[in-house]
Amino acid sequence: MQERIALETPRLHLRTWHDADLDPLERMCADPQVMRYFPELLSRDECAALMARCRLHFAHHGFGFWALERKDDGRFIGMAGLAWCKLPLPFCPAVEIGWRLVADQWGQGLAKEAADAALTCAFERLQLAEVVAFTAQLNEPSRGLMEALGMQHEPRDDFEHPALAEGHPLRPHVLYRLRRADWADGRS
Ligand SMILES: CC(C)(COP(=O)(O)OP(=O)(O)OC[C@H]1O[C@@H](n2cnc3c(N)ncnc32)[C@H](O)[C@@H]1OP(=O)(O)O)[C@@H](O)C(=O)NCCC(=O)NCCS
Repeated sequence: MQERIALETPRLHLRTWHDADLDPLERMCADPQVMRYFPELLSRDECAALMARCRLHFAHHGFGFWALERKDDGRFIGMAGLAWCKLPLPFCPAVEIGWRLVADQWGQGLAKEAADAALTCAFERLQLAEVVAFTAQLNEPSRGLMEALGMQHEPRDDFEHPALAEGHPLRPHVLYRLRRADWADGRS
């Protein structure tokens, strides 16, 4: 069993999952605004399965998608973190960074704050050479965050998501990359 990493930012705890997170996770994943760029909303059972996968990833690797808890009021406001991606795609296996926040918390810099902490963990603590991020081509907020983090988009890496049918509007995906050396240069 790996030690499970927890992180802290000025406004957030990035922590492992509590059973009580299931209720707010279910509400977040049933919100069409939050799930606009995902193929479907998630049921409670699917959220429980998602939480179980996150916990298993922490057990195997020590890192994963953390639950985000506001320090000021203790509220669960979403998830963000790192995960091994093993899709049948040319850039895999790779560690991806991702995020999903409840809509009433958007626009306060909280996703970037969490993602910055996850990248510092990836490059300093885990000594990864590269972190990738991918999303539906149409997902401008997520792409904006990738760019704000200094991630680079190479159009030759773009791909059609294998889990979505041809013609599905969310099928075209973009891939962004961030190498440790570029991340370190961006901070100096
Ligand atoms: C993507 C998401 C996490 C951004 O959360 P957020 O808390 O609003 O982001 P932040 O306030 O930390 O913003 C960080 C940067 O993201 C970018 N960004 C955020 N919202 C944006 C938008 N609507 N359009 C373009 N860029 C946007 C901006 O560059 C911003 O930097 P700035 O403050 O210098 O302008 C949020 O919209 C979300 O949870 N979306 C639904 C889930 C999702 O689609 N996840 C990704 C699946 S791959």
